[in-house]
Amino acid sequence: MGKNYRMLAKTLFGMEDLLAAELRSLGAGNVETGVRNVTFEGDKGFMYKANLACRTAIRILKPIRTFNVFDEEDLYKRVYEFPWEKYMDVNQTLAVDSTVFSDYFTNSMFVSLKTKDAIVDRFRDREGTRPSVDLEYPDLRVNVHIDRNIATISLDSSGDSLHKRGYKVENVAAPINEVLAAGIIMLSGWEGQSDFLDPMCGSGTFLIEAAMIACNIPANINREEFGFERWKDFDEDLYNTIEDALLNRIREHPHKIIGYDKDPIAVQKAIENIKSANLTEFIKVEEQDFFESEKQGDKALHMVFNPPYDERLRIEDVERFYGEIGSTLKHGYPGSQVWFISSSTEGLKNVGLRPFKRIKLFNGQLESRLVGYEMYQGSKKGKSRS
Ligand SMILES: C[S@@+](CC[C@H](N)C(=O)[O-])C[C@H]1O[C@@H](n2cnc3c(N)ncnc32)[C@H](O)[C@@H]1O
Repeated sequence: MGKNYRMLAKTLFGMEDLLAAELRSLGAGNVETGVRNVTFEGDKGFMYKANLACRTAIRILKPIRTFNVFDEEDLYKRVYEFPWEKYMDVNQTLAVDSTVFSDYFTNSMFVSLKTKDAIVDRFRDREGTRPSVDLEYPDLRVNVHIDRNIATISLDSSGDSLHKRGYKVENVAAPINEVLAAGIIMLSGWEGQSDFLDPMCGSGTFLIEAAMIACNIPANINREEFGFERWKDFDEDLYNTIEDALLNRIREHPHKIIGYDKDPIAVQKAIENIKSANLTEFIKVEEQDFFESEKQGDKALHMVFNPPYDERLRIEDVERFYGEIGSTLKHGYPGSQVWFISSSTEGLKNVGLRPFKRIKLFNGQLESRLVGYEMYQGSKKGKSRS
Protein backbone atom coordinates (compact mmCIF):
# COMPACT_ATOMS: atom_id res chain seq x y z
CA MET A 1 0.00 0.00 0.00
CA GLY A 2 1.27 3.46 -0.91
CA LYS A 3 0.81 6.62 1.10
CA ASN A 4 -2.79 7.84 1.37
CA TYR A 5 -3.72 11.37 0.39
CA ARG A 6 -6.91 13.36 -0.01
CA MET A 7 -8.46 13.70 -3.47
CA LEU A 8 -11.47 15.46 -4.92
CA ALA A 9 -13.69 13.95 -7.59
CA LYS A 10 -15.90 16.33 -9.56
CA THR A 11 -19.33 15.23 -10.64
CA LEU A 12 -22.65 16.52 -11.98
CA PHE A 13 -25.41 18.11 -9.88
CA GLY A 14 -27.49 15.34 -8.30
CA MET A 15 -24.83 12.61 -8.68
CA GLU A 16 -22.88 13.32 -5.47
CA ASP A 17 -24.37 10.48 -3.40
CA LEU A 18 -23.96 7.99 -6.24
CA LEU A 19 -20.31 8.92 -6.65
CA ALA A 20 -19.73 8.71 -2.88
CA ALA A 21 -21.25 5.20 -2.90
CA GLU A 22 -19.09 4.19 -5.89
CA LEU A 23 -15.95 5.44 -4.17
CA ARG A 24 -16.83 3.69 -0.91
CA SER A 25 -17.46 0.40 -2.65
CA LEU A 26 -14.11 0.69 -4.45
CA GLY A 27 -12.44 1.12 -1.04
CA ALA A 28 -12.01 4.90 -0.57
CA GLY A 29 -11.51 6.23 2.97
CA ASN A 30 -13.16 9.25 4.66
CA VAL A 31 -15.62 9.92 1.85
CA GLU A 32 -17.43 13.27 2.10
CA THR A 33 -19.93 14.74 -0.35
CA GLY A 34 -19.92 18.39 -1.40
CA VAL A 35 -21.78 20.26 -4.12
CA ARG A 36 -20.89 18.65 -7.46
CA ASN A 37 -17.91 16.97 -5.80
CA VAL A 38 -16.86 14.25 -3.40
CA THR A 39 -13.63 14.22 -1.39
CA PHE A 40 -11.98 11.01 -0.27
CA GLU A 41 -8.69 9.38 0.69
CA GLY A 42 -6.70 6.75 -1.11
CA ASP A 43 -3.21 5.95 -2.38
CA LYS A 44 -1.75 6.15 -5.88
CA GLY A 45 -3.22 2.76 -6.85
CA PHE A 46 -6.63 3.89 -5.66
CA MET A 47 -6.35 7.03 -7.79
CA TYR A 48 -5.78 4.79 -10.84
CA LYS A 49 -8.70 2.57 -9.80
CA ALA A 50 -11.10 5.49 -9.24
CA ASN A 51 -10.29 6.91 -12.69
CA LEU A 52 -10.80 3.55 -14.36
CA ALA A 53 -13.94 2.49 -12.53
CA CYS A 54 -16.04 5.47 -11.38
CA ARG A 55 -19.08 5.92 -13.63
CA THR A 56 -20.21 9.24 -12.17
CA ALA A 57 -16.90 11.12 -11.81
CA ILE A 58 -15.99 13.83 -14.31
CA ARG A 59 -12.43 14.28 -13.13
CA ILE A 60 -10.29 13.38 -10.14
CA LEU A 61 -8.02 16.03 -8.69
CA LYS A 62 -5.02 15.53 -6.44
CA PRO A 63 -4.56 18.67 -4.31
CA ILE A 64 -0.87 19.45 -3.79
CA ARG A 65 -0.99 22.78 -1.96
CA THR A 66 -3.47 25.03 -0.14
CA PHE A 67 -2.67 28.57 1.00
CA ASN A 68 -4.19 31.97 1.76
CA VAL A 69 -4.10 34.45 -1.05
CA PHE A 70 -5.36 38.01 -1.44
CA ASP A 71 -4.21 39.21 -4.84
CA GLU A 72 -2.61 38.08 -8.09
CA GLU A 73 0.93 38.95 -6.99
CA ASP A 74 0.47 36.82 -3.89
CA LEU A 75 -0.77 33.95 -6.02
CA TYR A 76 2.17 34.31 -8.42
CA LYS A 77 4.69 34.23 -5.54
CA ARG A 78 3.18 31.18 -3.85
CA VAL A 79 2.92 29.22 -7.09
CA TYR A 80 6.45 30.23 -8.13
CA GLU A 81 7.90 28.89 -4.84
CA PHE A 82 6.45 25.44 -5.42
CA PRO A 83 8.91 22.76 -6.73
CA TRP A 84 7.22 22.18 -10.11
CA GLU A 85 10.29 20.31 -11.36
CA LYS A 86 9.08 17.44 -9.14
CA TYR A 87 6.00 17.12 -11.33
CA MET A 88 7.13 17.97 -14.86
CA ASP A 89 10.20 18.46 -17.03
CA VAL A 90 10.91 21.66 -18.91
CA ASN A 91 10.33 19.91 -22.25
CA GLN A 92 6.81 18.88 -21.22
CA THR A 93 3.64 20.92 -21.78
CA LEU A 94 1.09 22.26 -19.32
CA ALA A 95 -2.39 23.73 -19.08
CA VAL A 96 -4.02 25.54 -16.18
CA ASP A 97 -7.78 25.61 -15.40
CA SER A 98 -9.27 27.76 -12.65
CA THR A 99 -12.49 28.12 -10.76
CA VAL A 100 -12.90 31.22 -8.64
CA PHE A 101 -15.48 32.06 -5.96
CA SER A 102 -13.95 35.17 -4.46
CA ASP A 103 -14.23 38.94 -4.10
CA TYR A 104 -10.43 39.17 -4.28
CA PHE A 105 -10.27 37.49 -7.68
CA THR A 106 -13.05 37.88 -10.20
CA ASN A 107 -11.48 36.70 -13.42
CA SER A 108 -10.67 32.99 -13.57
CA MET A 109 -8.83 33.41 -16.89
CA PHE A 110 -6.46 35.84 -15.23
CA VAL A 111 -5.90 33.43 -12.33
CA SER A 112 -4.99 30.69 -14.84
CA LEU A 113 -2.64 33.05 -16.65
CA LYS A 114 -0.87 34.17 -13.47
CA THR A 115 -0.46 30.57 -12.33
CA LYS A 116 0.91 29.51 -15.70
CA ASP A 117 3.34 32.47 -15.69
CA ALA A 118 4.61 31.55 -12.23
CA ILE A 119 5.27 27.94 -13.26
CA VAL A 120 7.01 28.72 -16.54
CA ASP A 121 9.01 31.60 -14.99
CA ARG A 122 10.32 29.24 -12.31
CA PHE A 123 11.59 26.87 -15.00
CA ARG A 124 13.08 29.73 -17.02
CA ASP A 125 14.91 31.15 -13.99
CA ARG A 126 16.30 27.75 -13.01
CA GLU A 127 16.97 26.16 -16.38
CA GLY A 128 17.12 29.04 -18.88
CA THR A 129 14.19 27.68 -20.86
CA ARG A 130 10.46 27.32 -20.22
CA PRO A 131 7.79 24.65 -20.77
CA SER A 132 5.13 25.32 -23.40
CA VAL A 133 1.41 25.55 -22.97
CA ASP A 134 -0.86 23.02 -24.70
CA LEU A 135 -4.50 23.55 -23.88
CA GLU A 136 -5.69 20.37 -25.61
CA TYR A 137 -3.18 17.62 -24.81
CA PRO A 138 -0.96 18.91 -22.01
CA ASP A 139 1.39 16.59 -20.15
CA LEU A 140 0.35 18.23 -16.89
CA ARG A 141 -3.06 19.75 -16.17
CA VAL A 142 -3.02 22.06 -13.17
CA ASN A 143 -6.24 23.10 -11.49
CA VAL A 144 -6.56 26.23 -9.35
CA HIS A 145 -9.57 26.58 -7.07
CA ILE A 146 -9.99 29.84 -5.17
CA ASP A 147 -12.70 30.04 -2.53
CA ARG A 148 -12.70 33.54 -0.94
CA ASN A 149 -9.02 33.83 0.10
CA ILE A 150 -8.10 30.13 0.07
CA ALA A 151 -6.36 28.80 -3.00
CA THR A 152 -5.98 25.09 -3.68
CA ILE A 153 -3.61 23.94 -6.39
CA SER A 154 -4.30 20.44 -7.70
CA LEU A 155 -3.03 18.13 -10.39
CA ASP A 156 -5.75 16.74 -12.62
CA SER A 157 -5.20 12.99 -12.62
CA SER A 158 -7.88 12.34 -15.27
CA GLY A 159 -6.67 14.61 -18.08
CA ASP A 160 -9.59 14.84 -20.47
CA SER A 161 -13.03 14.75 -18.82
CA LEU A 162 -13.98 11.21 -17.78
CA HIS A 163 -17.23 11.39 -19.76
CA LYS A 164 -14.97 10.77 -22.75
CA ARG A 165 -15.05 7.03 -22.25
CA GLY A 166 -13.23 6.24 -25.46
CA TYR A 167 -15.96 4.18 -27.17
CA LYS A 168 -17.78 6.94 -29.08
CA VAL A 169 -16.84 6.84 -32.74
CA GLU A 170 -20.14 8.32 -34.01
CA ASN A 171 -22.32 11.11 -32.61
CA VAL A 172 -25.93 12.17 -33.17
CA ALA A 173 -27.27 15.74 -32.82
CA ALA A 174 -28.02 15.66 -29.07
CA PRO A 175 -26.09 12.80 -27.48
CA ILE A 176 -26.38 12.55 -23.72
CA ASN A 177 -23.23 12.97 -21.66
CA GLU A 178 -21.91 9.51 -20.68
CA VAL A 179 -21.54 10.43 -16.99
CA LEU A 180 -25.12 11.72 -16.93
CA ALA A 181 -26.35 8.60 -18.73
CA ALA A 182 -24.64 6.24 -16.28
CA GLY A 183 -25.86 8.30 -13.32
CA ILE A 184 -29.45 8.25 -14.60
CA ILE A 185 -29.38 4.47 -14.96
CA MET A 186 -27.97 4.18 -11.44
CA LEU A 187 -30.56 6.63 -10.02
CA SER A 188 -33.26 4.54 -11.70
CA GLY A 189 -32.10 1.55 -9.64
CA TRP A 190 -31.17 -0.69 -12.58
CA GLU A 191 -28.12 -2.89 -12.06
CA GLY A 192 -28.84 -5.56 -14.65
CA GLN A 193 -31.70 -7.36 -12.90
CA SER A 194 -34.12 -7.26 -15.88
CA ASP A 195 -34.35 -6.58 -19.60
CA PHE A 196 -33.47 -2.99 -20.56
CA LEU A 197 -34.87 -0.87 -23.40
CA ASP A 198 -33.93 2.58 -24.67
CA PRO A 199 -36.75 3.25 -27.16
CA MET A 200 -35.09 6.41 -28.62
CA CYS A 201 -31.48 5.35 -28.39
CA GLY A 202 -29.73 7.81 -30.75
CA SER A 203 -26.01 7.02 -30.61
CA GLY A 204 -26.56 4.31 -27.98
CA THR A 205 -25.12 5.96 -24.87
CA PHE A 206 -27.68 4.54 -22.40
CA LEU A 207 -27.36 1.07 -23.98
CA ILE A 208 -23.58 1.03 -23.68
CA GLU A 209 -23.55 2.42 -20.14
CA ALA A 210 -26.27 -0.08 -19.16
CA ALA A 211 -24.29 -3.02 -20.54
CA MET A 212 -21.16 -1.85 -18.73
CA ILE A 213 -23.12 -1.57 -15.46
CA ALA A 214 -24.78 -4.97 -15.92
CA CYS A 215 -21.48 -6.70 -16.72
CA ASN A 216 -19.51 -4.68 -14.14
CA ILE A 217 -17.12 -3.45 -16.83
CA PRO A 218 -14.98 -0.52 -15.61
CA ALA A 219 -16.49 2.66 -17.08
CA ASN A 220 -13.26 3.98 -18.55
CA ILE A 221 -11.62 0.79 -19.72
CA ASN A 222 -11.80 1.97 -23.37
CA ARG A 223 -10.07 5.29 -22.74
CA GLU A 224 -6.82 5.86 -24.53
CA GLU A 225 -5.17 7.77 -21.71
CA PHE A 226 -5.50 9.29 -18.25
CA GLY A 227 -3.63 12.39 -17.10
CA PHE A 228 -1.62 10.46 -14.49
CA GLU A 229 0.00 8.34 -17.23
CA ARG A 230 2.18 11.35 -18.13
CA TRP A 231 3.16 12.12 -14.55
CA LYS A 232 6.77 11.60 -13.52
CA ASP A 233 5.73 9.11 -10.83
CA PHE A 234 3.52 6.96 -13.11
CA ASP A 235 3.81 3.32 -12.06
CA GLU A 236 2.86 1.21 -15.07
CA ASP A 237 3.10 -2.14 -13.23
CA LEU A 238 0.78 -0.88 -10.51
CA TYR A 239 -1.64 0.43 -13.14
CA ASN A 240 -1.67 -2.92 -14.97
CA THR A 241 -2.28 -4.79 -11.70
CA ILE A 242 -5.23 -2.51 -10.85
CA GLU A 243 -6.65 -2.83 -14.37
CA ASP A 244 -6.38 -6.66 -14.27
CA ALA A 245 -8.07 -6.82 -10.86
CA LEU A 246 -10.99 -4.75 -12.18
CA LEU A 247 -11.26 -6.85 -15.34
CA ASN A 248 -11.43 -9.98 -13.19
CA ARG A 249 -14.66 -8.69 -11.67
CA ILE A 250 -16.55 -8.60 -14.99
CA ARG A 251 -19.70 -10.74 -14.78
CA GLU A 252 -22.19 -12.34 -17.16
CA HIS A 253 -25.46 -10.57 -17.94
CA PRO A 254 -28.36 -12.94 -18.66
CA HIS A 255 -30.97 -10.30 -19.71
CA LYS A 256 -31.56 -8.42 -22.96
CA ILE A 257 -30.44 -4.86 -23.65
CA ILE A 258 -32.33 -3.40 -26.61
CA GLY A 259 -32.36 -0.05 -28.43
CA TYR A 260 -34.90 1.41 -30.86
CA ASP A 261 -34.62 4.48 -33.01
CA LYS A 262 -36.81 5.48 -35.91
CA ASP A 263 -33.87 7.09 -37.67
CA PRO A 264 -31.82 4.50 -39.63
CA ILE A 265 -28.71 6.71 -39.44
CA ALA A 266 -28.94 6.83 -35.63
CA VAL A 267 -29.32 3.02 -35.59
CA GLN A 268 -26.15 2.65 -37.68
CA LYS A 269 -24.26 5.03 -35.39
CA ALA A 270 -25.39 3.19 -32.27
CA ILE A 271 -24.23 -0.10 -33.80
CA GLU A 272 -20.79 1.39 -34.57
CA ASN A 273 -20.42 2.75 -31.02
CA ILE A 274 -21.48 -0.56 -29.51
CA LYS A 275 -18.94 -2.35 -31.67
CA SER A 276 -16.25 0.08 -30.57
CA ALA A 277 -17.15 -0.65 -26.92
CA ASN A 278 -16.84 -4.41 -27.61
CA LEU A 279 -20.44 -4.94 -26.45
CA THR A 280 -22.07 -6.30 -29.61
CA GLU A 281 -22.93 -9.61 -27.96
CA PHE A 282 -24.93 -7.88 -25.20
CA ILE A 283 -26.94 -5.24 -27.11
CA LYS A 284 -29.43 -5.37 -29.99
CA VAL A 285 -30.50 -2.23 -31.88
CA GLU A 286 -33.48 -2.04 -34.23
CA GLU A 287 -34.91 0.57 -36.55
CA GLN A 288 -38.31 1.03 -34.92
CA ASP A 289 -40.76 3.85 -34.24
CA PHE A 290 -41.39 3.62 -30.52
CA PHE A 291 -44.93 4.93 -30.97
CA GLU A 292 -45.71 1.88 -33.12
CA SER A 293 -44.12 -0.61 -30.74
CA GLU A 294 -45.22 -2.69 -27.78
CA LYS A 295 -43.52 -4.68 -25.08
CA GLN A 296 -42.23 -8.09 -26.16
CA GLY A 297 -43.08 -10.96 -23.77
CA ASP A 298 -44.15 -10.92 -20.12
CA LYS A 299 -40.80 -10.41 -18.43
CA ALA A 300 -40.20 -7.26 -16.36
CA LEU A 301 -38.76 -4.45 -18.46
CA HIS A 302 -36.76 -1.38 -17.43
CA MET A 303 -36.76 1.58 -19.82
CA VAL A 304 -34.46 4.62 -19.78
CA PHE A 305 -34.26 7.33 -22.44
CA ASN A 306 -34.03 10.99 -23.31
CA PRO A 307 -36.63 12.14 -25.83
CA PRO A 308 -35.65 14.83 -28.35
CA TYR A 309 -35.12 18.37 -27.07
CA ASP A 310 -38.07 20.67 -27.50
CA GLU A 311 -35.81 23.22 -29.23
CA ARG A 312 -36.08 21.01 -32.29
CA LEU A 313 -39.85 20.42 -31.98
CA ARG A 314 -42.54 23.09 -32.33
CA ILE A 315 -44.61 23.68 -29.18
CA GLU A 316 -47.75 21.90 -30.37
CA ASP A 317 -45.50 19.04 -31.47
CA VAL A 318 -43.97 18.90 -27.98
CA GLU A 319 -47.41 18.44 -26.43
CA ARG A 320 -48.37 15.79 -28.97
CA PHE A 321 -45.01 14.03 -28.81
CA TYR A 322 -45.03 13.67 -25.01
CA GLY A 323 -48.69 12.69 -25.13
CA GLU A 324 -47.71 9.89 -27.50
CA ILE A 325 -44.96 8.76 -25.14
CA GLY A 326 -47.60 8.48 -22.40
CA SER A 327 -50.16 6.64 -24.47
CA THR A 328 -47.57 4.23 -25.95
CA LEU A 329 -46.43 3.37 -22.43
CA LYS A 330 -49.98 3.07 -21.14
CA HIS A 331 -51.26 0.84 -23.91
CA GLY A 332 -48.13 -1.02 -24.98
CA TYR A 333 -45.82 -1.39 -21.99
CA PRO A 334 -47.53 -2.99 -18.95
CA GLY A 335 -45.06 -4.50 -16.47
CA SER A 336 -42.38 -1.89 -17.18
CA GLN A 337 -40.59 0.68 -15.11
CA VAL A 338 -39.92 3.73 -17.24
CA TRP A 339 -37.51 6.59 -16.68
CA PHE A 340 -36.75 9.54 -18.91
CA ILE A 341 -35.08 12.92 -18.61
CA SER A 342 -36.48 16.06 -20.13
CA SER A 343 -36.08 19.81 -19.81
CA SER A 344 -39.50 20.41 -21.33
CA THR A 345 -42.01 21.41 -18.64
CA GLU A 346 -44.68 21.62 -21.34
CA GLY A 347 -43.83 18.16 -22.58
CA LEU A 348 -43.80 16.58 -19.13
CA LYS A 349 -47.25 18.03 -18.38
CA ASN A 350 -48.61 16.24 -21.41
CA VAL A 351 -47.41 12.70 -20.70
CA GLY A 352 -50.71 12.03 -18.93
CA LEU A 353 -49.21 9.62 -16.37
CA ARG A 354 -48.31 10.35 -12.77
CA PRO A 355 -44.61 9.83 -12.04
CA PHE A 356 -43.72 8.10 -8.78
CA LYS A 357 -40.39 9.92 -8.78
CA ARG A 358 -39.09 13.30 -10.03
CA ILE A 359 -35.42 14.16 -9.67
CA LYS A 360 -33.86 17.52 -10.59
CA LEU A 361 -30.80 17.19 -12.82
CA PHE A 362 -29.04 19.29 -15.45
CA ASN A 363 -28.58 18.15 -19.01
CA GLY A 364 -25.70 20.46 -19.94
CA GLN A 365 -26.98 23.91 -18.95
CA LEU A 366 -30.64 22.87 -19.13
CA GLU A 367 -32.45 22.30 -15.87
CA SER A 368 -34.26 19.00 -16.36
CA ARG A 369 -36.33 16.43 -14.55
CA LEU A 370 -35.69 12.72 -14.47
CA VAL A 371 -39.14 11.18 -14.10
CA GLY A 372 -39.97 7.57 -13.18
CA TYR A 373 -43.25 5.82 -14.03
CA GLU A 374 -44.48 2.41 -12.95
CA MET A 375 -46.60 0.73 -15.64
CA TYR A 376 -48.48 -2.00 -13.84
CA GLN A 377 -48.88 -5.47 -15.28
CA GLY A 378 -52.38 -6.71 -16.05
CA SER A 379 -54.41 -3.49 -16.00
CA LYS A 380 -52.66 -2.29 -19.22
CA LYS A 381 -53.24 1.17 -17.80
CA GLY A 382 -50.37 2.36 -15.67
CA LYS A 383 -51.16 4.96 -13.09
CA SER A 384 -52.98 7.62 -15.04
CA ARG A 385 -53.35 11.15 -13.79
CA SER A 386 -57.16 11.22 -13.53
C1 LIG B 1 -32.07 13.24 -27.84
S1 LIG B 1 -31.85 11.94 -28.94
C2 LIG B 1 -31.31 10.62 -27.92
C3 LIG B 1 -29.85 10.69 -27.72
C4 LIG B 1 -29.27 9.41 -27.13
N1 LIG B 1 -29.62 9.19 -25.75
C5 LIG B 1 -27.77 9.43 -27.29
O1 LIG B 1 -27.04 9.36 -26.31
O2 LIG B 1 -27.29 9.55 -28.42
C6 LIG B 1 -33.47 11.42 -29.33
C7 LIG B 1 -33.58 10.31 -30.34
O3 LIG B 1 -34.95 9.94 -30.41
C8 LIG B 1 -35.19 9.47 -31.72
N2 LIG B 1 -36.66 9.46 -31.92
C9 LIG B 1 -37.51 10.50 -32.03
N3 LIG B 1 -38.79 10.07 -32.16
C10 LIG B 1 -38.75 8.72 -32.11
C11 LIG B 1 -39.72 7.68 -32.16
N4 LIG B 1 -41.01 7.97 -32.32
N5 LIG B 1 -39.32 6.41 -32.07
C12 LIG B 1 -38.00 6.09 -31.93
N6 LIG B 1 -37.02 7.02 -31.89
C13 LIG B 1 -37.38 8.31 -31.97
C14 LIG B 1 -34.42 10.44 -32.59
O4 LIG B 1 -34.17 9.87 -33.87
C15 LIG B 1 -33.17 10.67 -31.76
O5 LIG B 1 -32.13 9.80 -32.17
